[in-house]
Amino acid sequence: MDGTSIVTIERHIIEAERKYPDASGAFSNILTDMALAAKVISRQVNMAGLVDILGRVGRRNVQGEPVQKLDVFAQDVIYRAMDHTGHLCCMVSEELEDPIPIPDSFPAGEYVLLFDPLDGSSNIDVNVSIGTIFSIHRKVSDSERGTLEDCLQVGRKQLAAGYVVYGSSTMFVYTTGHGVHGFTLDPSIGEFILSHENIRIPEPPNRYYSVNEARHSEWDPGMRRLLEHFKSGGDGEGAFSARYIGSLVADFHRTLLRGGIFMYPGDRSNPDGKLRLLYESSPLAFIAEQAGGRASTGREDVLDVVPTSIHQRTPLFLGSREFVDEADGFLSQG
Ligand code: AHG
Ligand code: MN
Ligand code: MN
Repeated sequence: MDGTSIVTIERHIIEAERKYPDASGAFSNILTDMALAAKVISRQVNMAGLVDILGRVGRRNVQGEPVQKLDVFAQDVIYRAMDHTGHLCCMVSEELEDPIPIPDSFPAGEYVLLFDPLDGSSNIDVNVSIGTIFSIHRKVSDSERGTLEDCLQVGRKQLAAGYVVYGSSTMFVYTTGHGVHGFTLDPSIGEFILSHENIRIPEPPNRYYSVNEARHSEWDPGMRRLLEHFKSGGDGEGAFSARYIGSLVADFHRTLLRGGIFMYPGDRSNPDGKLRLLYESSPLAFIAEQAGGRASTGREDVLDVVPTSIHQRTPLFLGSREFVDEADGFLSQG
């Protein structure tokens, strides 16, 4: 596509589907439905200060974290955009303990959607960028309605992954294994327009490290040495700068466009860290690899981790390949 074409996300998905004859329309429809849900959530996020949607709903989600009203809204919007389409056999949401069945009144399909409806909840009330993350797998069980086996698939088998970042503009970024493509929402026409085709993490990367240093005293010695390594300029070519927004999607979006490394390591009290494998680390790992980067647990590629439970957590080192490789080196020294 030349630089002057107006390409909506729907058109981009259809053209991608044409290129890959084995791609079924169902898969494209899931992505299109996700874009619709993103538009609805974006509108609500941008009105959050005006509509009484701020603050907590007074309960805690399966992670034990206080649930913010926008979390509930985003969860509900995605569910209602997806439950009746006949493309999904089940869903997994960060907000719900168990896999979400497709109501018997609706047909079930061949795909599984796993998602974090609203990422960066602690930033909702202070007008800092937040996001949505999703991952799509193909159903592998013989069951019509989807089972835990369909949800617990290794990241390398993902068919698609994406995120929405609700920031100074709303962007929808996705991959189906054929590059990473970004679309910016034009709210005046309600369309996501192709604005970042074939995103590649810059080489040489900007030298950013992104980590919550408050947990420094809890880290393993290898992690502490890694941070000192970056603080002292890494392997050369200039000093690092620290950037940490506290919304994974926003920290990753910057890393994707500028380079650097995002880190959420394990520590003494949380050996597996905080971030969830299936609907945070794994989809962003797929995107990072498709953009020329890497994602590691510090011991292995995130995409090779075989899940054992739907809300399991994993340490995460994500971004420019050279920096993630360095992280593995320091962490393997223990
Ligand atoms: P969520 O709002 O979906 O629970 O995700 C919050 C995550 C992630 O967005 C961010 O990187 C991390 O929490 C920040 O954790 P700390 O506040 O411990 O740094
Ligand atoms: Mn999250
Ligand atoms: Mn969340």
